[in-house]
Amino acid sequence: MRQLPVYYYSSVSNLIRRFATHLTAADGRPVLDLSERENRANEPVGPWVLLTPSYKAGNDAHATLPAPVRSFLRSPITRRRLVGIIGSGNRNFGEHYQAAARELSRVSGRPVIFEFELAGTPEDVAECARRLAAFDERFAGIGPEVAPDDGK
Ligand SMILES: Cc1cc2nc3c(=O)[nH]c(=O)nc-3n(C[C@H](O)[C@H](O)[C@H](O)COP(=O)(O)O)c2cc1C
Repeated sequence: MRQLPVYYYSSVSNLIRRFATHLTAADGRPVLDLSERENRANEPVGPWVLLTPSYKAGNDAHATLPAPVRSFLRSPITRRRLVGIIGSGNRNFGEHYQAAARELSRVSGRPVIFEFELAGTPEDVAECARRLAAFDERFAGIGPEVAPDDGK
């Protein structure tokens, strides 16, 4: 069965990259780093999942989605093929916890599949892999060349 690819962005602290490395080690799922230009250059060929941190920096007006993620989401085809969101955050940010994943979920209508703090725990990796496998089944009949019908 096709495994939904997870496109991720990780800043210099590399917490998400560590999670992504464990996620692909768990069951071989493809993970793609959005800080690499070649991964941002093409639209995903089918349904895909975003893994993003939140960067609010305590400022209400500040954008929460990292710039490379916003740039990747500029393509309407890419946006249409997005089927779910995974968020990494830090509860110290209070009301802004997981702001990026939750705001994107609200505007896109796509579900937040899983949320974890910082680099996550081994239990987080296992639970996320399990939920992604359930999503793989849901989208098994779709693609890789065909985008899911999102009703638009
Ligand atoms: C400047 C800054 C702002 C942050 N803002 C938020 C935030 O608004 N909400 C949240 O849940 N986490 C916030 N975080 C925590 C990061 O999203 C979290 O540490 C994430 O794991 C970072 O992943 P990365 O190291 O791969 O970029 C912030 C972290 C920093 C350094």
